[in-house]
Amino acid sequence: MLRMFTAGESHGPALVCILEGMPAGLLVDANAIDEQLRRRQSGYGRGARQQIETDRVRLLGGVFDGRTIGAPVAMMVPNRDYENWREREVPPWTRPRPGHADLAGALKYGIEDLRLVAERASARETAARVSAGALARQLLSAAGIAIGSYVESIGTAHMPEQADPPDRLCGRALLSDVGCPDEATAQAMRAAIDTAREAGDSLGGTIVVAAWGLMPGLGTHVQWDRRLDGRLAQALMSIQAIKGIEIGPAFANASAPGTRVHDALYSGGIRKTNRAGGMEGGMTNGEPLWIRLAMKPIPTTITPIDTIDRATGEAAATQYQRSDVCAVPAAAVVAEAMAALVLADALLERYGGDRVEIILERIAHDRKA
Ligand SMILES: Cc1cc2nc3c(=O)[nH]c(=O)nc-3n(C[C@H](O)[C@H](O)[C@H](O)COP(=O)(O)O)c2cc1C
Repeated sequence: MLRMFTAGESHGPALVCILEGMPAGLLVDANAIDEQLRRRQSGYGRGARQQIETDRVRLLGGVFDGRTIGAPVAMMVPNRDYENWREREVPPWTRPRPGHADLAGALKYGIEDLRLVAERASARETAARVSAGALARQLLSAAGIAIGSYVESIGTAHMPEQADPPDRLCGRALLSDVGCPDEATAQAMRAAIDTAREAGDSLGGTIVVAAWGLMPGLGTHVQWDRRLDGRLAQALMSIQAIKGIEIGPAFANASAPGTRVHDALYSGGIRKTNRAGGMEGGMTNGEPLWIRLAMKPIPTTITPIDTIDRATGEAAATQYQRSDVCAVPAAAVVAEAMAALVLADALLERYGGDRVEIILERIAHDRKA
């Protein structure tokens, strides 16, 4: 129902995005899109580029008088850094950076200058995703569904388990520069990032994305490619550097007996636990959705890593390019955006309609039943 495409390079004129399938009549808040872009750029551990850019979205199509018109929504996020690079003579990159797309991309497309691979593989592309996701979350919000996230760990600094509901945890995370709702852990995270920076190294971590206000039955058990768990996994794993995903405490559940895992049902369809993470049979079950993501450490490090020089065929060391030390808080914002796109897609599939008002009527009817 909802399709998103992005285009553009990290140091090109802009990142662009087309979001196809948005119903007509949605009030679009461009400031709220910019707010998500601001969140994506912030966070302790980010590199110098974030000070150069202040991302602002430009709506180019599909919105008239502040509302969607049912046409594809076209958005552009200009790269302010473009002006600094357009005249610059940059020697070709010939040393592939381990952990990056450089070598495989060059072999695949027959590219000599690795920078041409890096320009598109860069996570700068996520500015376009976040713009589209911000619009999807405006549709979800009209339907009473909210999305948030928090950073659970950076390196070995790990938050203790918290029993708070998702809105509280995600709300507190919004106030933290490492996206962590627990201040003691947040301090340990900042210290870990400082230590990694001083050592010329980088860090990854884990993120929890949550959605609440969900009705049961988004997604379906009837066909493999329509299962919502699979669709969420695909979208979230497509984020640069995200290498693992679990729904609910899936890896802990895997080592516990079934009677201690499955959430018992009580009169009125009530559950007192949510170890399924809000998802059964590839569908939302009405409980909050919990998804945990693992992000690998940033692959660009000040400390050189062994590589080869493709120009000479000789052993070489990586050359440092300006980079984040840790981008887990920013990745959490991107993860919210990707989850919002998948959930909005599933919402449109379930309540499909060309106009927001009709969709909202159907949802209201369903919620009353
Ligand atoms: C928000 C965000 C920011 C990132 N910033 C950097 C960065 O500054 N330097 C870097 O080397 N990798 C960064 N990455 C990760 C790389 O883009 C990614 O590891 C690389 O493109 C290879 O893709 P893969 O890790 O998915 O295999 C970032 C990822 C995200 C999600």
